[in-house]
Amino acid sequence: MHVHYGKIEAIKGISLEVAEGEIVTLIGANGAGKTTTLKTISGLRPLSSGSVTFDGKDISKLPGHKRVLAGIGQSPEGRGVFPGMTVTENLLMGAYTRTGDFSKDLDEVFELFPRLAERRNQAGGTMSGGEQQMVAIGRALMSKPKVLLLDEPSMGLAPMLVAQIFSIIKEINNRGTTVLLVEQNAQQALQLAHRAYVLETGRVVKSAPASELLDDPQVREAYLGGELGAH
Ligand SMILES: Nc1ncnc2c1ncn2[C@@H]1O[C@H](COP(=O)(O)OP(=O)(O)O)[C@@H](O)[C@H]1O
Ligand SMILES: [Mg+2]
Repeated sequence: MHVHYGKIEAIKGISLEVAEGEIVTLIGANGAGKTTTLKTISGLRPLSSGSVTFDGKDISKLPGHKRVLAGIGQSPEGRGVFPGMTVTENLLMGAYTRTGDFSKDLDEVFELFPRLAERRNQAGGTMSGGEQQMVAIGRALMSKPKVLLLDEPSMGLAPMLVAQIFSIIKEINNRGTTVLLVEQNAQQALQLAHRAYVLETGRVVKSAPASELLDDPQVREAYLGGELGAH
């Protein structure tokens, strides 16, 4: 994929793949191009050149809402919770591409996030940061995605909440959903994921099993605070 904003090339020819059943993480500093990558996969940014293939089909020209229907769900950076809507209403927004009865899907989300069940009638805007993150992930799950794209779910959360969100991501994956996780929180993302890509200013500079990158001196230096034996 190559992606531009005007004349500036934000994504300079990267290739990445996510196999069914995997958790793959894309780590990188602020401005590396992580969000742009996810938005291009979900159809919110156009490709300048290259292609996006999903389930064996070239979806490069498919509009975003059809990619949701095809099975690509996204929880956006900054969560994007609708502040004036209740938790339940926010979750139902995630099912907008589908028809029928969503009570079973809602129950599943409430089972994954008991906190949301307790607060189902509370306005989204009055939820804490961690709870809003749960709403954003739950909303993405309501489209019944085959692959879930998560953009920095740990951003701004206290360590205990980060651990909680990451263990729910693992559970979502265990239940059969493939995950592409974008993170600046490299330590925890690498502990969770099967494989990882390191993105630096629009280029993939490393790609390896996540456990290998946890021990990679360059990665440790740049993204894990340098200290060895921290995991
Ligand atoms: N809407 C935009 N207009 C112009 N440049 C943008 C826009 N969004 C992102 N960029 C630029 O693209 C690059 C990658 O940004 P982004 O994908 O948001 O990185 P990350 O998510 O890794 O922090 C950055 O240099 C950023 O300034
Ligand atoms: Mg980003």
